[in-house]
Amino acid sequence: MSGKSESMIRQFFFLLFFTSAFLFSAGQAVYHETYRPQLHFSPAANWMNDPNGMVYYHGNYHLFFQYYPGGTIWGPMHWGHAVSKDLVHWKEEAIAIYPDSLGYIFSGSAVVDSNNTSGFGKDGKIPLVAIFTQHDMAGEKAKTNRFQNQSIAYSLDEGKTWIKYSGNPVLRTPDLKDFRDPKVIWYAGQKKWIMTLAAGDRVMFYSSPDLKTWTKESTFGEHIGAHGGVWECPDLVSFDIAGKKIWLLLVSINPGGAQGGSSTQYFTGTFNGHIFKSFDTLTRWADYGPDNYAGVTWSNTGKEKIFLGWMSNWQYGTKVPTEKWRSAMTVPRILGLKKIDGAYFTTMEPVQFKLKSIPINSATQNQFSYHAPCLIEFRTTNLHSFSMVFNNQKGQQLRVGFDEEKNSFYIDRKLAGKSDFDPQFASIHYGSRISKSGSSDMKIILDNSSLELFADGGLTTMTEIFFPDLPFDQMSIRDKSIQFEDMKIFEISSIWPALK
Ligand code: FRU
Repeated sequence: MSGKSESMIRQFFFLLFFTSAFLFSAGQAVYHETYRPQLHFSPAANWMNDPNGMVYYHGNYHLFFQYYPGGTIWGPMHWGHAVSKDLVHWKEEAIAIYPDSLGYIFSGSAVVDSNNTSGFGKDGKIPLVAIFTQHDMAGEKAKTNRFQNQSIAYSLDEGKTWIKYSGNPVLRTPDLKDFRDPKVIWYAGQKKWIMTLAAGDRVMFYSSPDLKTWTKESTFGEHIGAHGGVWECPDLVSFDIAGKKIWLLLVSINPGGAQGGSSTQYFTGTFNGHIFKSFDTLTRWADYGPDNYAGVTWSNTGKEKIFLGWMSNWQYGTKVPTEKWRSAMTVPRILGLKKIDGAYFTTMEPVQFKLKSIPINSATQNQFSYHAPCLIEFRTTNLHSFSMVFNNQKGQQLRVGFDEEKNSFYIDRKLAGKSDFDPQFASIHYGSRISKSGSSDMKIILDNSSLELFADGGLTTMTEIFFPDLPFDQMSIRDKSIQFEDMKIFEISSIWPALK
């Protein structure tokens, strides 16, 4: 064999070795990289923001999401797609909706058009109809106010492929540059669709008999709630409480949120098919942490309302230190309303995961070992200040607790790992206690790079992300002036395929 062909063969095996080593490690690594959430949905690769088009149909929870397949920062928006049967395990599907000549595909919703009001149904097949904003970059660059219009598309194959309506857009902006994020519900009382839309720092309501022609009903928001930024991603949800219909209007705001940056406020009131009237003018936050944004509910789930938010913040979302993908969703949460001293407040409880319990004795132990992801639960009949410190072998820590003087729960991520990507990231955040009861219960969901706190039956919730060099695997209780009752730590199996 000549020297040349020997060297070619050597080069061939060299390349083969490195290519397969790369593919093998890349293949194995997906969903198990540093910081990768093990309980939360995140895309296998690239950029994700808001949850979109969430609809329950034929036993599947569909989750569409703002997605840029070309990189890990925000870019031309598509609708990504994932499906789950139990709201815990997710399968990412092919991209559902692509941008076109009318613009990028921004946030929106999806409905099951059971009565075929749209006429998109064929051969008895019920259409799923998506209603979304199209953002026209050319219009934005030309500094017009006319670049956000609403379009629709339908699917006759369970959300896999979508056909855009030839009459798009179906609702043009009334010369408002922020006019987006349509969330549509069926208003049975008047047999019409209601679209709730963000318009500047207001919400506008439109109605339609067929999802194609829309008529303005009213505007809401003047002198009510927080106005430190533009309003986005609204959702109008109804609850039957003690024989009465109570309406909840969720409205995300950016900036000007509970902790600066982006977060979600809400209003409760009445809705008569035309006008939403808030019971009062106060600002209330659906989640006091910095990392729960653009959250809305699944459609077609009957009386059960299930909420999901984007677990990040526009202040630093494009800079967080993940390499292959950017951002995750919160865990899905059962959304409720509770009346306290005459006013309604939201409650959020995480959906059920499969739990493996770790035996502990909180009466005699102050230090616990576990492996994230996990759920920590406890009750106390006499709530006073306390703190729990989660730490790792690198000396990084995250503190979670209650401050009696401030009557607030808190999460302190100052020493929780990487934070140099944003000057305000390393900080402590407080969440007002809503409950007036002396006793309290808490659920904490800890994943590799997030913690969600649900206190007092979910009356106060806080969601935070962080980036420790190693996952937190120790927890100690400090300043323990309260009795923890029924304290339990449950490890939870990763929702992603195991590493082989
Ligand atoms: C909220 C938001 C929406 C918009 C989308 C664009 O995070 O700004 O208002 O439709 O993201 O990706």
